[in-house]
Amino acid sequence: MVDYQPLDAAFAGLLAEQAAVPGGMLLAQTVATTAVRRRLLPIIPLRAGWRVLDLGTGFGPLAFELAATATVEVVGIDTDEDVLVAASALGVKLQGRLAPGSTVRFEPGDAEALEVAPASFDLAVARLLFQHLANPAGAARGIARALRPGGYAFVFDVDDGLGATYPRLGGPLEILEDAFDAWQSSYGGDRQIGRKLSSLLASAGLSVEAVAVVPEAEHRREGPGDPSRALAVARLRAARDGIAAAGILTADELDRLVEAYLASPPLERCRIESQVAVIARRPLAATEV
Ligand SMILES: C[S@@+](CC[C@H](N)C(=O)[O-])C[C@H]1O[C@@H](n2cnc3c(N)ncnc32)[C@H](O)[C@@H]1O
Repeated sequence: MVDYQPLDAAFAGLLAEQAAVPGGMLLAQTVATTAVRRRLLPIIPLRAGWRVLDLGTGFGPLAFELAATATVEVVGIDTDEDVLVAASALGVKLQGRLAPGSTVRFEPGDAEALEVAPASFDLAVARLLFQHLANPAGAARGIARALRPGGYAFVFDVDDGLGATYPRLGGPLEILEDAFDAWQSSYGGDRQIGRKLSSLLASAGLSVEAVAVVPEAEHRREGPGDPSRALAVARLRAARDGIAAAGILTADELDRLVEAYLASPPLERCRIESQVAVIARRPLAATEV
């Protein structure tokens, strides 16, 4: 039985200092999705002694969880160097609290132009990265190159087409969420990347072993004091300048819609969201990828 308590305490401590942490929104999201992320751990192929690459690691939650689960060497890569500084500080706090002999280190790097030694990793994971990429095919090829023959890829991401809400969002929240999605598409991201992941990995020369839909359903009383409402607002405010710069909504329009959403009466709502997990493997015969 893996003890995640030291990880939870370290992330809670960082969250308490949130004002001082860059990427505070991502941190809040990382902590809020802990239970859902942990449901993935049993399906990720992992063996003691492996070298693991975590692409788009963020604050490194998955990197630390894998290193707590088995004795592994994890390298977390991200383009956001400020977030990596915080992730490295978490790593210092967690020394001696992971599986004995595990190491986790963080390096700046771009998953779309991956610079790691070919065939040097046993496992590459990417959680909630591909939705942000303008060149997901390039990232899939980078993963294929980084893996040793027989090495595994575990890629997990959103697919907004695989969800349902009742009652439907409507009103200011629907306009805001559409604006957020349009902004993500404007820089090449894709909120329906989930269904494309297995094709991307197969086209990069990997053999797809399994595709799974990971559903999440909850009933919420959406209203003042609801943490999910606070998180939705924080996410929209963090994207405010980007949405305005892309000409989707002006900053004033966005602020007014957020205020209208915050002032809307409490609502009982069921939200069903699904994400897609793909396990793929580099063929044992060392093919050129
Ligand atoms: C939604 S977060 C996911 C973080 C983490 N994987 C998790 O599960 O909590 C996406 C991360 O991908 C990073 N990212 C975006 N584009 C990237 C790229 N081209 N290369 C590496 N990291 C990237 C972002 O900086 C951010 O930290």
